[in-house]
Order: sequence, then structure tokens, then C-alpha cells
Amino acid sequence: DTETNHIAHFPQGVTERPGENAIFIVYTLKDLPGTADAVKDVCANFSALIRSMTNRYPQEQFSAVMGFGAQAWGRLFPGRPKPAELEPFEEIRGPKHTAVSTPGDLFFHIRARRMALCFEFASILDRKLDGTVEPEDETHGFRFHDGRAIIGFVDGTENPAVDENPRSFALIGDEDPSFAGGSYVFVQKYIHDMKAWNALPVEEQEKVIGRRKFDDVELSDEEKPADAHNAVTNIGDELKIVRANMPFANTSKGEYGTYFIGYAGTFSTTRTMLERMFVGEPEGNTDRLLDFSTAVTGTLFFAPSFDLLGELGE
Ligand code: HEM
Repeated sequence: DTETNHIAHFPQGVTERPGENAIFIVYTLKDLPGTADAVKDVCANFSALIRSMTNRYPQEQFSAVMGFGAQAWGRLFPGRPKPAELEPFEEIRGPKHTAVSTPGDLFFHIRARRMALCFEFASILDRKLDGTVEPEDETHGFRFHDGRAIIGFVDGTENPAVDENPRSFALIGDEDPSFAGGSYVFVQKYIHDMKAWNALPVEEQEKVIGRRKFDDVELSDEEKPADAHNAVTNIGDELKIVRANMPFANTSKGEYGTYFIGYAGTFSTTRTMLERMFVGEPEGNTDRLLDFSTAVTGTLFFAPSFDLLGELGE
């Protein structure tokens, strides 16, 4: 019945809002005898660790998501079937820009109003995994003013709204029943050329994004160029993903970035958006935003439902 189904597929918090603060961690696994046990211990305890945090701090909008790369899935859970679309991300080489593919076995997306909670949760995970993992990337993101990317434009506006049922876009459904309630998580760390971006008049920047900078209003069809970011990535009302991008920065190093994160029930949806950005449709109509933004990582993960996560820990 429906209720049992619902419980059997209780998803991780993949459709939560981007939040005030976030930590994104990508680990690779060391090839050691104790590695699988350490990871399974985290799987088994993940929902209890979250529950403790949300019980202690009910006002802090705490959430955390755990995901697995394709190779890790095979190594950690031999004999278990694999989610239909879980493969190592295949790099996309366009005429001008490349969506690189970088390693990643375990992924954590930790969100809270205060960074202290994100930090505490990350440090608990790191202790549990101690000695069995190598850090691949850790990025600390923050909410910038009214939800702006670091390039000054509001980010997330056209995400599926509550009345559009974001979970129907973010979660695997009955087409892959063993993995229903799970989600394909694609992450890309982008570095922006802020000097070039800031040298561009605001009206030109608006043509790059396809929206007004100050009030976030969408450009009309006549105003919006074909290579505007929101023209390239809009592939129809049926094909949406749930984004929770966060800005990050290291000002003295001149590092200004966007941590892109997209949750989808079908990775092919995210992949189509990427192909339109990097190769162009028609070919050559590449995303103008890429002239100011370089992808330095790119990794696909699978975030199981809480129930499957518990099973994986057995
Ligand atoms: C829209 C920023 C990368 C998919 C937007 C908007 C901004 C933005 C400011 C307009 C407001 C909104 O609707 O959210 C960025 C930045 C990126 C980035 C700074 C990295 C440099 C990506 C990537 C994808 C993507 C890699 C897909 C794989 C989308 C989609 C929309 C959007 C689907 C909504 C389009 C529409 O229907 O209007 N992005 N984005 N973005 N972006 Fe991105």
C-alpha cells in the first residue's frame, strides 16, 4: 500500500533549500582491509547522526546527504545491482570549454543555518572514516545576500517550486524500483574570472544570465540571446533538476567560485543540460556563462534513500 511504499522509499534531504551554510566533501577510498567496514558504519549510523543534530538544534535547518561514486559502489557492495545510470561521469569536451571528470567515491552535502553544525557533523564523519579515505575536495559555501551566486545574480529562481513537486524531479521513481527514493547527484566546482566578469557592463552580464541583475526579472524572448545561461539550460517543464548551488571564495587568493550541485531522478536530464552548455544545441551555441566560469571538478554520485542507506550498512 501507499504508506508502506512511502516508508520504504524515505528519501534523504535532497530537496532541502540551499541554506545559509554548506560543506561539500568528496573523498576517495583507500584500498585497505578496513575501508568497507568504516564506510558501512557511516551508512548504518547516518540517519541517527542527523536525527541527533536536528533534535539538538530544531531551529537550525540542519540536513545532510551521503552519496556514492560508481566505482565505490562496485567495490563496497559487490554483488549488489547498480542504479541504472550510475557510471563514472564522462567528460564533455566542447569546442571552447570542457566539463572535466574528476575522481570521487564518497560525497557529503551538509547544510545548516550555522557553520558550527556543518563543521561538527563533518568532523564526526571524518573521525569515523579516519585512515580509510583520502580527501579529494572540501568546499565551504555560504548564502550570499538574497541567494545570489558570487557573480551577483540570484541563483535558484527557476528550481521546481513546492507546488511542482520537487521530489518528482529529484528522486528515482518506479522505473528503477530497487533504487526508488534515491537521487543522482552531480557536482561541479566552478572558478569565475571575476576581473573579466566585473569588466562587463551590467546590461551585458544580464544577457549572459538571461535575467535582470537587481530584481531577478527574466529577460523577454526578444531580449534574451540564444546563448544566455537560462536559455541553454531550459530544456522544458518536464525535464527539471533540483539545484542547491552555493558561492565560495578565498578573496586573497583571488578565488571566486560557484559549487554547482544538481539532484535528479534521471542523470540524463542533467547530462543534457551539460551537453547544451558545453557543446551547444545547435552545436557551437555554447553557454556564454562558461566564458567567465571554468569547471575544475565534475563527479556523479548516487544518494540512496534512507532505507537503502541503512541496508547498505548491514
Ligand atoms: C539558472 C547560475 C551552472 C542549470 C541559473 C540562474 C543563475 C545560474 C544565476 C538564473 C536563476 C535561476 O533560475 O536559478 C549558475 C552558475 C553556474 C551554473 C553561477 C556555474 C558557473 C549550471 C549548470 C547547470 C545549470 C552546470 C546544469 C547542469 C540551470 C538551470 C537553470 C539555471 C536548469 C534554470 C533555467 C530556466 O529554466 O530558466 N543558473 N548556474 N546551471 N541553471 Fe545555472
